[in-house]
Amino acid sequence: MIRGIPTLDDLGDVRGKRVFVRADFNVPIEDGKITDDFRIRAALPTLNWLRERGASVVCATHLGRPKGAPDPKYSVEPVRARLAELAPEVELLENLRFDPGEEGNSAEFAESLVDGVDLYVNDAFGASHRAHASIVGPPHRLPSAMGLLLAKEVEVLLGLRNDPKRPFVAVLGGAKISDKLGVVEALLDVVDSLAIGGAMCFTFLAAQGKRIGESLFEPDQVETCGRILDQQGSKVHLPEDIIGLDAGGNVATWGTNVPDGGKGFDIGPGTAAAFSDIVIEARTVFWNGPMGMFEDARFAAGTRTLAQAMADTKAFTVVGGGDSAAALAEFGLDDDVDHVSTGGGASLELLELGDLPGLAALREAPNAG
Ligand code: 3PG
Ligand code: MG
Repeated sequence: MIRGIPTLDDLGDVRGKRVFVRADFNVPIEDGKITDDFRIRAALPTLNWLRERGASVVCATHLGRPKGAPDPKYSVEPVRARLAELAPEVELLENLRFDPGEEGNSAEFAESLVDGVDLYVNDAFGASHRAHASIVGPPHRLPSAMGLLLAKEVEVLLGLRNDPKRPFVAVLGGAKISDKLGVVEALLDVVDSLAIGGAMCFTFLAAQGKRIGESLFEPDQVETCGRILDQQGSKVHLPEDIIGLDAGGNVATWGTNVPDGGKGFDIGPGTAAAFSDIVIEARTVFWNGPMGMFEDARFAAGTRTLAQAMADTKAFTVVGGGDSAAALAEFGLDDDVDHVSTGGGASLELLELGDLPGLAALREAPNAG
């Protein structure tokens, strides 16, 4: 039992039992091929634990965002093929989101999932912030447990939230700010420094009265960003230089004011160096979201420099979110951080709120404390 949540050991003897494992195999697929199987490999310890003890395992996942109806584009077939290589004898159901009952959290759909099943295991950390049928339904109906991956994620992320070694630094990037302001505010209560890059920095720079040219920003969030800076500004580090395209389409480096017609796409070298220094001096670092549009080589330097600092620092390093994890992998640095979370939104929500719908449901399981 961890934090009132049953673990695999609390399932009792699993020999001969049929166990339903909710996994998050929502992996990137291009032309029918999986481009990164990290989330599948991450579930193997739990699948092996169950198989070695004689359980028969049936897995299920969502894949992409089909609209509650079968859509060949989102078939789990490529995942099934990869899973058959990694964990033979484990069954995989078709995409849960082909049924509207999954996202609608219908009781009927949850019943159909547990039909003929003895035990339920949630190892889908990346989806545990969704109150969907396969996440919150079965724990009310069957003896249940958190899988090894879910337990590890919870331990690492709640450890950051509750008891970080200091200085504790968070680095946030990515494009959208509206869905991250909650976590920005929550993080500011626990971190010593928060460095902000990616397109989300422009809304903060706008709140400081800087000119941001044509850069992406969210006008309706400027006021909130301004309030955050008024209250906690001493902890916030914003870019001091920006790389982007000028009105003529040429790559340019500016200070914090982007000229008319210019558009920022990456943090500049001065900022990348400053953020790296903060990361190197920290004892705990959480990073979510690339510093720029790193898919374009002209705007990859900021993210690459930060990724290198994550690899070089002696701090305990945690990376959340598919884009930052993909960046690390692209630079060959994914083995050089302490924990790469399988969750993006889930890791942010757990840091922000300290709990997730999937965890709350497991606490209600018949075998829970
Ligand atoms: C993710 O990749 O973010 C998780 O698998 C959850 O998927 P969702 O954002 O479509 O709910
Ligand atoms: Mg998501």
